[in-house]
Order: sequence, then structure tokens, then C-alpha cells
Amino acid sequence: MVTTYNKQSAPAYQETTSETIFEINIAFENAREVLGKLTSQTVLDFGCGTGRSSRLLRHWGAQQVIGLDQNPNMIAVAQTLPREGIEYRLLREENLPQVDKAFSAFVLMEIESIEKLQQIHRTIAQTLPAGGKYVAITNNSEALPYDSEQISIYPALDFKYNSGDIMLATIKGEKPFEFRDHYWTLEDYTRVLEATGFQLREARIPQPRKNHKTSPYLVLSAIRY
Ligand SMILES: C[S@@+](CC[C@H](N)C(=O)[O-])C[C@H]1O[C@@H](n2cnc3c(N)ncnc32)[C@H](O)[C@@H]1O
Repeated sequence: MVTTYNKQSAPAYQETTSETIFEINIAFENAREVLGKLTSQTVLDFGCGTGRSSRLLRHWGAQQVIGLDQNPNMIAVAQTLPREGIEYRLLREENLPQVDKAFSAFVLMEIESIEKLQQIHRTIAQTLPAGGKYVAITNNSEALPYDSEQISIYPALDFKYNSGDIMLATIKGEKPFEFRDHYWTLEDYTRVLEATGFQLREARIPQPRKNHKTSPYLVLSAIRY
């Protein structure tokens, strides 16, 4: 199970991102709609990992993408892939760009405490102008437990539906990839956003997979004020 991305798991993560996964694709499609027009904009990809989300932002029309991540192993993999119009930076206070919009995909559920979630959002807020849009794809707490042909998300032992409790998520497929994620509710995200200079505008649940009640993901859209 992955808790940190090391030299072996970073390329393994990249392999899972080249699979077509219904729930993930629909979440990205919703994020694209919510982000709106990106032409001639510089967009921050916070927690860019191996660059899937950064490459998508470029594909969606962003003029320039700045991918920030705390993990050099992930950035090293991203650097080996097509990166025209994308600049990857290791997250450091002195490395923060000024951008038009900000995005984070599949990052917030990896964060273990409210304090860290606040710290991340203070950092994102610093990169945006007043009125700048921030969109995040994260977990939908209403979907737990979730199981489909391609993804499962289960409460870990001792899970009590308390904020921050551990969930075990698996991307299935030929080489299954497991994550240790954390349970955060929409109220948690709303409070964190409000405490860090954002106003939540929309919380969108992507279309569920056939024969499933809901999507395991949530698309948040907030404005920096
Ligand atoms: C599941 S990956 C998602 C990568 C990419 N956004 C994508 O869609 O494939 C989550 C990434 O968030 C990064 N991350 C987690 N916490 C972070 C933090 N506090 N600051 C910066 N990056 C962080 C991890 O290093 C990891 O690369």
C-alpha cells in the first residue's frame, strides 16, 4: 500500500494513470467544465504527481501549466513525459507562481489533517488573484464503501466515519495500486476553504457508473476573495 511515492511506486502510479477508468474520466470531464475556458491562461496544478493532470490542463487549452508537488520522485517521472507548456517545480515557499486559475486532482484525500489541508489551501490562495478560480477533484464521503470493476474504496480497521479516518482505495486492473486515503466531508472542505480565503461556489458529484448510486469523487469549485 502506498503512503509515500518512492522510486518504485512513482512509475507504478504513472502506469495506473494511463488506464481508462470510468469514474476518474468522468470526474476530470466535470472538472474541465467547471474550470471553464483556459485559453491564454496560466494554471497551477497543485499536487501534479507524475503530470497526468498537468498534461490534461494543457490539452484543455491552458497556455502555461505550473505543476507543483512536494515529491521529487513524482516530478522526476513527470519530467520524462511530454511537457511542452508545462513547468514542474518542487513545492517550496520561494517557488510559488502567480497564476490565473488553480487545480488539484486526487490530492486532498491524501492529506492526513485539517491543519495540513489548511496549509495547502493557504499556499494555493497565495498563487491566485482576487476572483481567481480554484477547482479540486477529491473524495465523495457519501460514496463509502465503494466497489466497481475498476475502483474500490473501503474504510480501514477502526474507521468510525470521523474526519481524517483512514480509507483504503484500490485502482484495480492488471497491476492493482493501493492508496491510503483520508475521509473528509464536504463540511470539512467548506470550513477549510472559508478559513483560507476561498468561497465555495459549487460541489458537484460526477455522474455515477451504471448500477452505482453515486460517484466516489466530488468536484469542488471555489473563488479566491
Ligand atoms: C494521487 S497523486 C495525484 C497526481 C495528479 N494530480 C494526477 O491527477 O494524477 C497526489 C499527489 O499529491 C502530492 N501531494 C500530497 N500532499 C502534498 C502537499 N502537501 N504538497 C504538495 N504535493 C502534495 C503527492 O506527492 C502526489 O504526487
